[in-house]
Amino acid sequence: MTMEPNLAVRLGPLTLKNPVISASGVFGYGLELKRFCPPEALGLVITKGLSLTPRPGNETPRLAESCGGILNAIGLENMGVEAFIEKALPPLKAAGALVAANILGNSAEEYGLLASRLAHSDVDMLEVNVSCPNVRAGGLAFGSNPALTAEAAQAVFENAGGKPFMVKLTPLTSDIAAVALAAEKAGAAAVSLINSIPAMAVDLERRRPKLANVVGGLSGPAIKPVALRQVWQCARVLKIPVVGVGGISSARDALEFILVGAAAVEVGAAVLLDPRTPLTIINDIRNWMIQEKMSDLDELRGALKA
Ligand code: SIN
Repeated sequence: MTMEPNLAVRLGPLTLKNPVISASGVFGYGLELKRFCPPEALGLVITKGLSLTPRPGNETPRLAESCGGILNAIGLENMGVEAFIEKALPPLKAAGALVAANILGNSAEEYGLLASRLAHSDVDMLEVNVSCPNVRAGGLAFGSNPALTAEAAQAVFENAGGKPFMVKLTPLTSDIAAVALAAEKAGAAAVSLINSIPAMAVDLERRRPKLANVVGGLSGPAIKPVALRQVWQCARVLKIPVVGVGGISSARDALEFILVGAAAVEVGAAVLLDPRTPLTIINDIRNWMIQEKMSDLDELRGALKA
């Protein structure tokens, strides 16, 4: 008889049925891709970043392919927090999904206002985006500095009414562990990393940038080694869980992140190529555990012999 492995993981006060999470931005508001990937099959669904009021986002083109990855400069297009709570959240929760709302403010006060608006909603968690590279007031200034990250996290902590939150970090800092520790100290239940890496792509013949915004954020397999290193650096020093993000497109990628200490993983760019990827990853993790005779992912987490 084959032993059924336990894929459930803890993320702060939440128990996720498996460690696979849809990264903010690639899964819309959770139901757009349900024909390919039902949101309730995932450990957690993270919705597109929300601001206090709706945003139209950047001019197109907003996406450009690159070797080993993709550049995006969406510019935080979103329906705004009110429409999300009224229209997008109820059907997603009715589908049985565990939901985290990604939020983005221009100031600590705005992060606090977003948190207070979501405090009484049905979201299970918040993801505080202090790391968008694509708009001037995109939080990146918060995320590259421990004191500013603490300020944003503190504002969320004070206004979220006890709702757990994780802070999404940028790789663009000299000491990511220091930023992560600042988020932990300010009350974060977890951190997620990394957001995309500021980058650029140009069209030689047209002498033009490929993105209307000129610069964008690089994600996909090209950034996986960078993410792996920074997840390892954070997981070694934090008490709260670390969620790995960056170029995860297979179960092996996901398991490597767990090996260096991640509690769970977010799948981003790979969903743009094939929206069924998260389901494939969940299934392949299960099969790998059976093959390895592993009953629980705790046996792998942080087991790297470095
Ligand atoms: C965007 O909407 O431009 C991307 C969001 C992010 O990278 O945080």
